[in-house]
Amino acid sequence: MSNLLPSIQANNYQVHFNENGIKALNTHLKEIKYSTIFILVDTHTNEYCLPKLVPHIETETTLEIIEFEPGEHHKNIETCIQIWTVLTELGGDRKSLIINLGGGVVTDLGGFVASTFKRGVNFINIPTTLLAMVDASVGGKTGVDLGNLKNQIGVINVPQMVLIDSQYLETLPKNEMKSGLAEMLKHGLIFDKAYWEKFLDLKILDFTDFDALIYRSVEIKNEIVIQDPTEKNIRKALNFGHTLGHAIESYFLENENKKTLLHGEAIAVGMILESYISLHKNLINEDEYFQIKNTLKSIYTDIIFEDEDIEQIIELLIHDKKNEYGNIQFALIEGIGKIKINQSVENELIKKSFLDYKS
Ligand SMILES: NC(=O)c1ccc[n+]([C@@H]2O[C@H](COP(=O)([O-])OP(=O)(O)OC[C@H]3O[C@@H](n4cnc5c(N)ncnc54)[C@H](O)[C@@H]3O)[C@@H](O)[C@H]2O)c1
Repeated sequence: MSNLLPSIQANNYQVHFNENGIKALNTHLKEIKYSTIFILVDTHTNEYCLPKLVPHIETETTLEIIEFEPGEHHKNIETCIQIWTVLTELGGDRKSLIINLGGGVVTDLGGFVASTFKRGVNFINIPTTLLAMVDASVGGKTGVDLGNLKNQIGVINVPQMVLIDSQYLETLPKNEMKSGLAEMLKHGLIFDKAYWEKFLDLKILDFTDFDALIYRSVEIKNEIVIQDPTEKNIRKALNFGHTLGHAIESYFLENENKKTLLHGEAIAVGMILESYISLHKNLINEDEYFQIKNTLKSIYTDIIFEDEDIEQIIELLIHDKKNEYGNIQFALIEGIGKIKINQSVENELIKKSFLDYKS
């Protein structure tokens, strides 16, 4: 792994890569005298990632490990209550530090727990999934789900720093890698055509240079967030594929007869559907649409939608937090590498996009 990747400056914090990460963490721990350092993990990151981190932390301060069950089903307020309680029992105070070591569930939930415990304590994100590296850990969105509704409760608050080290990916299951890849593809589609084109033939993609791809994705996400941290404007670009993708993810999460989809699997379908909508609004041409659809379908297994599923997914959209003033607002692509935000889309076109996906 190359250690030559320079740190990226985000809003009030830096993203450090590879060996630079642990150096930055140890410097930070010398500069700020924390009372206790809590490391938040789920069962998997406790087993696979914690041993790669703890021996390298240089501090006299007590380290406490807090573990919770893995998975989206645990990204809720009940888990937060358990963690706030443990923090209290272990003497957590306003000078505590929380290090979130895990995927997007750990960084989203851990960021929210830290932002609200004692009215806010410092936290650091160390993402261990591809998805959390290129997306969830950067940008300051923290939060939890409310029932089957995704990310309904949360705050925007930035970490002290984010440390990205691809050595954590060595133990990540293949389907989780694919899930993260969806967000990288999105970054190309909304912002950088040349970056998108690197993924057109995964067989010739140079995975030895994967660090550089992760780096470019973080740069793109950061460039967008830095302009609009609270999502009033251009940050909505990052919602491409997510308006429908989130509704699909929520529906499959709640429905007992359906297998739970990984975030990236749902987003991949969302990007195909929203590209179809872009085509029908004359924002992209047929060649671009089929390139997107065929590339995504070659990576991700088809999801089966019955007519009844489609109706219910559209119903769920109404609850999506991206609906403003009662209209369903989409971020669509305008050619590959450019985005058009705040696009209203009628239900009929949404239905047609599902029918085309099925065909
Ligand atoms: N805040 C944001 O801006 C933002 C952006 C995108 C997604 N998200 C959120 O991120 C979440 C999805 O994140 P995710 O895909 O990382 O899911 P996740 O955190 O559930 O991790 C996926 C699985 O991989 C395991 N795991 C993590 N690291 C591992 C490793 N190195 N080796 C082996 N197993 C490992 C986890 O225990 C879990 O079972 C969703 O809740 C989504 O809403 C947030």
